[in-house]
Amino acid sequence: MSGTFELSLDVLSRKAAECRRCPLADGRRTVVFGEGNPRASLLFVGEGPGEVEDETGRPFVGPAGQLLTQILASVGIQREEVYIANIVKCRPPGNRVPTRPEMEACWDWLAAQIALLRPRIVVTLGNVPTQWFLATTEGIAQLRGRFHRWRGGIEVFPMYHPSYLLRNPSKAKGSPKHQTWLDIQTVKERISLLCPTPGA
Ligand code: URA
Ligand code: URA
Repeated sequence: MSGTFELSLDVLSRKAAECRRCPLADGRRTVVFGEGNPRASLLFVGEGPGEVEDETGRPFVGPAGQLLTQILASVGIQREEVYIANIVKCRPPGNRVPTRPEMEACWDWLAAQIALLRPRIVVTLGNVPTQWFLATTEGIAQLRGRFHRWRGGIEVFPMYHPSYLLRNPSKAKGSPKHQTWLDIQTVKERISLLCPTPGA
């Protein structure tokens, strides 16, 4: 079965590579589709590709990505076990926040990825994907650290964006970084409960 999912994600990614639905297509080097385990029960969604991602075609491989990898490793999750994607698949010029029309144009791709992956938990990283998924203007500081019911039995769990943590490196009790280390433990506990045999 897993071969089927891989094949469909692969077909989808080849289609996405030709996407010209929004003006971000003009400035991109590559479409950063997403990567990871096609059977993942955990999906991480960031904002959009940065410079290194645009160059390599892979999500979260620059400085923020290295921190995300460390956050996962702190609870024994390997990057390859989960799936990692973004709310927009092409780099916004100068890393500006994607516009609403850009996110709307790109949503079909992520929606299709979610339909194929059928994750149990979507971890949204930072304000942009969190506010998109939860259709709210409330901020990440209010929304992070708890599960929000979404669609089709999927739970959305917002966490701070790793780029924000790079700008706020304090690990003091109550700091965003400290809260993130607690948040990823919450995710790990919940996913172990929902899916006792990882990768099954
Ligand atoms: N920041 C994001 O939101 N996504 C990436 O893929 C890299 C950095
Ligand atoms: N703003 C964001 O977009 N994300 C954070 O994690 C914090 C502030």
